[in-house]
Amino acid sequence: MNNTMSLLLLLLGLSILAMNSTAATTDNGQFIYTGFAGANLTLDGVATVTPAGLLQLTNGTSALKAHAFHPDPLHFRDLPVAGGGGSGNGNGNDVHSFSVSFVFAILSIYPNLSSHGMAFFVSPTKNLSAAAPRSYLGLFSNKTDGDVANHIFVVELDTIQNTDFMDINNNHVGVDINSIRSVRSYPTGYYDDGDNGNLKNLTLNSHEPMRIWIDYDQETTRIDVTVAPLEISKPKRPLGSVIYNLSTVLTDSAYVGFSSSSGDIDSQYYVLGWSFAINGAAPAIDISKLPKLPREGPKSSSKVMEITLPIATAMFVLVIGVIVLHLLRRQLRYAELREDWEVEFGPHRFSYKDLFDATQGFKNKYLLGSGGFGSVYRGVLKSSR
Ligand SMILES: *[C@@H]1O[C@H](CO)[C@@H](O)[C@H](O)[C@H]1NC(C)=O
Ligand SMILES: *[C@@H]1O[C@H](CO)[C@@H](O)[C@H](O)[C@H]1NC(C)=O
Ligand SMILES: *[C@@H]1O[C@H](CO)[C@@H](O)[C@H](O)[C@H]1NC(C)=O
Ligand SMILES: *[C@@H]1O[C@H](CO)[C@@H](O)[C@H](O)[C@H]1NC(C)=O
Ligand SMILES: *[C@@H]1O[C@H](CO)[C@@H](O)[C@H](O)[C@H]1NC(C)=O
Ligand SMILES: *[C@@H]1O[C@H](CO)[C@@H](O)[C@H](O)[C@H]1NC(C)=O
Ligand SMILES: *[C@@H]1O[C@H](CO)[C@@H](O)[C@H](O)[C@H]1NC(C)=O
Repeated sequence: MNNTMSLLLLLLGLSILAMNSTAATTDNGQFIYTGFAGANLTLDGVATVTPAGLLQLTNGTSALKAHAFHPDPLHFRDLPVAGGGGSGNGNGNDVHSFSVSFVFAILSIYPNLSSHGMAFFVSPTKNLSAAAPRSYLGLFSNKTDGDVANHIFVVELDTIQNTDFMDINNNHVGVDINSIRSVRSYPTGYYDDGDNGNLKNLTLNSHEPMRIWIDYDQETTRIDVTVAPLEISKPKRPLGSVIYNLSTVLTDSAYVGFSSSSGDIDSQYYVLGWSFAINGAAPAIDISKLPKLPREGPKSSSKVMEITLPIATAMFVLVIGVIVLHLLRRQLRYAELREDWEVEFGPHRFSYKDLFDATQGFKNKYLLGSGGFGSVYRGVLKSSR
């Protein structure tokens, strides 16, 4: 009795654990999304979750904003203390170390131009209705840009060079504090551990999924940003490191999310998976379980046709040819020869087919002899035997 009870309790506990691991959880300021199907994100603007489970930030229509937030606020200074006991005011406490990783993809109709970019950010509010679209990425506006009251930390993936904001190129990763003008930015790339740590360039708008890690360290106030192609594990050396004390920026309770805004070029910004942790490494994302990017254009589907269509056509022609040949042979084999004298003496004759059948195809076994009129065979007529 006692045993069954504890077994039931164990099973109940296990099933609760299993339920928790499929959805994102916020216990201890940690969560993971492996795809977003059924996820409880807070979306606004044109942000949507596709049926495949991709978080799609823009949809191709110009000058629109998109935001997607983890629904619950996180505590960057005060961690909720397990076992109760009020933690008092956290205003004097430093911002904890935190770690973010996510998988994204940028698909633009042009090979090296897409608008305007996307960003991961931490914000005290989910209400960014006053922010401007286009180059402000839906995060700031000409009124709020640079204001310390924003309390916003951003890592931008910028695909347009905007000289007003001193952008270095049209393919950079930038660390921004309270402003769309980056504190530091880096041409997108990674230090390849498989090649003596040499720097390899990456193209943000490559239509391929890529992974990014953002790690903040409380002790050193260092922000490390690392990017890599999806199949490559986290490179040892980050693409960029910025020293900035985020304790002077972030509020204790803040939201984490993604932002994007469209320009005039039809570009899609997708997030495939996302994980986050305070005081620890962001949980590893199982890349084999991520949703697939949409198939692009008629190219890939016509590729199948390109190969199968000629084969099918060739097969069809071959089959028709064989049938025609067979019919022709049949026609020749049973061809009738009509002689002039027949017209006079009436139609008393055996068809060639009947003679052929009667002699089983003029087999030698039925050959009686050969003479001036030709060969003479013995045969049994089917009709009269
Ligand atoms: C994008 O979303 C907006 C707002 O929902 C809509 O008006 C527009 O038609 C959409 N564009 C495309 C290309 O689906
Ligand atoms: C989604 O998240 C919001 C904010 O935390 C919460 O109020 C709501 O109950 C959640 N919905 C579901 C279905 O979990
Ligand atoms: C796009 O790439 C082409 C060559 O591939 C180059 O000539 C052009 O300058 C590039 N445009 C931008 C905006 O980088
Ligand atoms: C969002 O902020 C704007 C001003 O920035 C305000 O007018 C609006 O009422 C706010 N919306 C909500 C839901 O708080
Ligand atoms: C700020 O942006 C608004 C709306 O986009 C625009 O009307 C206004 O002229 C801008 N102001 C400045 C100083 O650029
Ligand atoms: C990599 O990118 C940098 C900066 O954009 C450029 O100077 C360099 O030539 C590129 N290297 C290669 C191999 O393309
Ligand atoms: C960061 O700033 C906070 C608040 O100003 C301060 O208490 C803390 O000592 C700073 N940390 C470092 C490492 O300088």
